[in-house]
Amino acid sequence: MKRALTPGTFDPITYGHLDIIARAAQLFDEVIVAVAASNKKQPLFSLEERVALAEQATAHLENVRVVSFDGLLVDFAREMEAPVVVKGLRAITDFEYEFQMTAINYELSADFETVFIMSQPQHMYLSSSVVREVASMNGEIEQFVPPCVASVLKTKFA
Ligand code: PNS
Repeated sequence: MKRALTPGTFDPITYGHLDIIARAAQLFDEVIVAVAASNKKQPLFSLEERVALAEQATAHLENVRVVSFDGLLVDFAREMEAPVVVKGLRAITDFEYEFQMTAINYELSADFETVFIMSQPQHMYLSSSVVREVASMNGEIEQFVPPCVASVLKTKFA
Protein backbone atom coordinates (compact mmCIF):
# COMPACT_ATOMS: atom_id res chain seq x y z
CA MET A 1 0.00 0.00 0.00
CA LYS A 2 1.38 3.40 -1.01
CA ARG A 3 0.72 6.09 1.59
CA ALA A 4 1.54 9.78 1.07
CA LEU A 5 1.58 12.82 3.34
CA THR A 6 0.37 16.24 2.27
CA PRO A 7 1.85 18.54 4.93
CA GLY A 8 1.06 22.18 5.59
CA THR A 9 -0.09 24.74 8.11
CA PHE A 10 -3.58 24.92 6.57
CA ASP A 11 -4.45 28.24 8.22
CA PRO A 12 -7.08 27.72 6.85
CA ILE A 13 -7.41 25.01 4.18
CA THR A 14 -8.26 26.48 0.74
CA TYR A 15 -9.51 25.17 -2.61
CA GLY A 16 -5.85 25.23 -3.70
CA HIS A 17 -4.91 22.76 -0.95
CA LEU A 18 -7.99 20.64 -1.70
CA ASP A 19 -7.09 20.40 -5.37
CA ILE A 20 -3.64 19.01 -4.50
CA ILE A 21 -5.04 16.64 -1.84
CA ALA A 22 -7.73 15.30 -4.19
CA ARG A 23 -5.22 14.75 -6.98
CA ALA A 24 -2.80 13.02 -4.58
CA ALA A 25 -5.69 10.80 -3.44
CA GLN A 26 -6.03 9.57 -7.03
CA LEU A 27 -2.35 8.65 -7.18
CA PHE A 28 -1.90 6.98 -3.79
CA ASP A 29 -3.81 4.35 -1.80
CA GLU A 30 -3.99 6.60 1.26
CA VAL A 31 -3.29 10.29 1.80
CA ILE A 32 -2.65 11.74 5.24
CA VAL A 33 -3.20 15.48 5.49
CA ALA A 34 -0.51 16.42 8.02
CA VAL A 35 -1.46 19.64 9.80
CA ALA A 36 1.68 21.19 11.28
CA ALA A 37 1.48 23.01 14.61
CA SER A 38 3.62 25.79 13.03
CA ASN A 39 3.66 27.70 16.33
CA LYS A 40 6.32 30.12 15.04
CA LYS A 41 3.87 31.35 12.40
CA GLN A 42 1.31 32.24 15.10
CA PRO A 43 -1.61 30.82 13.11
CA LEU A 44 -4.99 32.54 13.17
CA PHE A 45 -6.71 29.20 13.80
CA SER A 46 -5.74 26.84 16.60
CA LEU A 47 -4.32 23.45 15.66
CA GLU A 48 -7.63 21.80 16.65
CA GLU A 49 -9.60 24.25 14.48
CA ARG A 50 -7.32 23.69 11.49
CA VAL A 51 -7.64 19.92 11.84
CA ALA A 52 -11.44 20.12 12.18
CA LEU A 53 -11.74 22.33 9.08
CA ALA A 54 -9.46 20.05 7.07
CA GLU A 55 -11.54 17.04 8.17
CA GLN A 56 -14.78 18.69 7.08
CA ALA A 57 -13.30 19.87 3.79
CA THR A 58 -11.94 16.41 2.89
CA ALA A 59 -14.87 14.33 4.24
CA HIS A 60 -15.89 13.41 0.68
CA LEU A 61 -12.47 11.85 -0.07
CA GLU A 62 -12.59 8.24 1.15
CA ASN A 63 -8.86 7.53 1.26
CA VAL A 64 -7.90 10.79 3.01
CA ARG A 65 -7.48 11.32 6.74
CA VAL A 66 -6.27 14.29 8.75
CA VAL A 67 -3.63 14.12 11.50
CA SER A 68 -1.77 16.90 13.34
CA PHE A 69 1.94 16.90 14.07
CA ASP A 70 4.53 18.95 15.91
CA GLY A 71 8.18 18.43 15.13
CA LEU A 72 10.12 17.46 12.07
CA LEU A 73 8.24 16.36 8.98
CA VAL A 74 10.77 13.60 8.32
CA ASP A 75 10.13 12.10 11.77
CA PHE A 76 6.37 12.26 11.30
CA ALA A 77 6.59 10.66 7.85
CA ARG A 78 8.57 7.80 9.34
CA GLU A 79 6.10 7.42 12.22
CA MET A 80 3.19 7.31 9.76
CA GLU A 81 5.05 4.92 7.46
CA ALA A 82 4.51 7.31 4.58
CA PRO A 83 7.51 7.26 2.23
CA VAL A 84 6.18 10.04 -0.01
CA VAL A 85 5.44 13.68 0.71
CA VAL A 86 3.26 15.46 -1.84
CA LYS A 87 3.35 19.24 -2.08
CA GLY A 88 1.65 21.70 -4.36
CA LEU A 89 3.73 24.07 -6.43
CA ARG A 90 2.20 27.40 -7.32
CA ALA A 91 3.75 30.35 -9.12
CA ILE A 92 7.52 30.56 -9.44
CA THR A 93 7.94 32.21 -6.00
CA ASP A 94 7.21 28.86 -4.29
CA PHE A 95 10.09 27.19 -6.00
CA GLU A 96 13.07 28.43 -3.98
CA TYR A 97 11.40 27.75 -0.62
CA GLU A 98 10.21 24.31 -1.64
CA PHE A 99 13.57 23.49 -3.19
CA GLN A 100 15.30 24.36 0.09
CA MET A 101 12.85 22.35 2.21
CA THR A 102 13.15 19.34 -0.07
CA ALA A 103 16.96 19.48 0.05
CA ILE A 104 17.04 19.83 3.86
CA ASN A 105 14.51 17.03 4.33
CA TYR A 106 16.55 14.84 2.03
CA GLU A 107 19.67 15.56 4.14
CA LEU A 108 17.73 14.75 7.32
CA SER A 109 16.33 11.50 5.95
CA ALA A 110 16.78 9.78 2.63
CA ASP A 111 13.86 7.52 3.56
CA PHE A 112 11.23 9.49 1.75
CA GLU A 113 10.69 11.30 -1.50
CA THR A 114 9.08 14.70 -2.07
CA VAL A 115 6.77 14.83 -5.07
CA PHE A 116 5.34 18.07 -6.48
CA ILE A 117 2.00 18.56 -8.18
CA MET A 118 1.56 21.80 -10.10
CA SER A 119 -1.38 23.90 -8.98
CA GLN A 120 -4.14 24.42 -11.46
CA PRO A 121 -3.96 27.88 -13.08
CA GLN A 122 -6.97 29.19 -11.15
CA HIS A 123 -5.18 28.42 -7.85
CA MET A 124 -1.71 29.70 -8.79
CA TYR A 125 -1.98 32.82 -6.66
CA LEU A 126 -4.24 31.48 -3.92
CA SER A 127 -2.81 31.29 -0.41
CA SER A 128 -4.19 31.02 3.11
CA SER A 129 -2.63 34.39 3.99
CA VAL A 130 -4.41 36.15 1.12
CA VAL A 131 -7.70 34.53 2.15
CA ARG A 132 -7.20 35.69 5.76
CA GLU A 133 -6.49 39.23 4.59
CA VAL A 134 -9.54 39.40 2.31
CA ALA A 135 -11.73 37.95 5.09
CA SER A 136 -10.37 40.43 7.63
CA MET A 137 -11.54 43.25 5.37
CA ASN A 138 -14.97 41.75 4.81
CA GLY A 139 -14.23 40.72 1.23
CA GLU A 140 -15.81 37.77 -0.57
CA ILE A 141 -13.98 34.51 0.10
CA GLU A 142 -16.46 31.93 -1.18
CA GLN A 143 -14.46 31.39 -4.39
CA PHE A 144 -11.31 30.56 -2.38
CA VAL A 145 -12.45 28.25 0.43
CA PRO A 146 -15.17 25.65 1.03
CA PRO A 147 -18.37 26.83 2.75
CA CYS A 148 -17.41 25.39 6.18
CA VAL A 149 -14.19 27.44 6.16
CA ALA A 150 -15.87 30.59 4.84
CA SER A 151 -18.42 30.55 7.62
CA VAL A 152 -15.80 30.08 10.38
CA LEU A 153 -13.63 32.83 8.87
CA LYS A 154 -16.58 35.22 8.80
CA THR A 155 -17.31 34.48 12.45
CA LYS A 156 -13.64 35.08 13.34
CA PHE A 157 -13.67 38.54 11.79
CA ALA A 158 -17.24 39.50 12.69
O1 PNS B 1 1.71 25.41 4.58
P1 PNS B 1 3.13 25.72 4.91
O2 PNS B 1 3.21 26.64 6.11
O3 PNS B 1 3.93 26.21 3.74
O4 PNS B 1 3.78 24.31 5.34
C1 PNS B 1 5.13 24.24 5.74
C2 PNS B 1 5.41 22.92 6.45
C3 PNS B 1 4.48 22.75 7.64
C4 PNS B 1 5.20 21.78 5.48
C5 PNS B 1 6.88 22.98 6.91
O5 PNS B 1 7.08 24.13 7.68
C6 PNS B 1 7.29 21.77 7.72
O6 PNS B 1 7.57 20.73 7.16
N1 PNS B 1 7.30 21.94 9.07
C7 PNS B 1 7.69 20.88 9.97
C8 PNS B 1 9.03 21.20 10.62
C9 PNS B 1 10.16 20.73 9.74
O7 PNS B 1 10.27 19.56 9.39
N2 PNS B 1 11.08 21.66 9.39
C10 PNS B 1 12.24 21.37 8.57
C11 PNS B 1 11.94 21.42 7.09
S1 PNS B 1 13.01 22.56 6.34
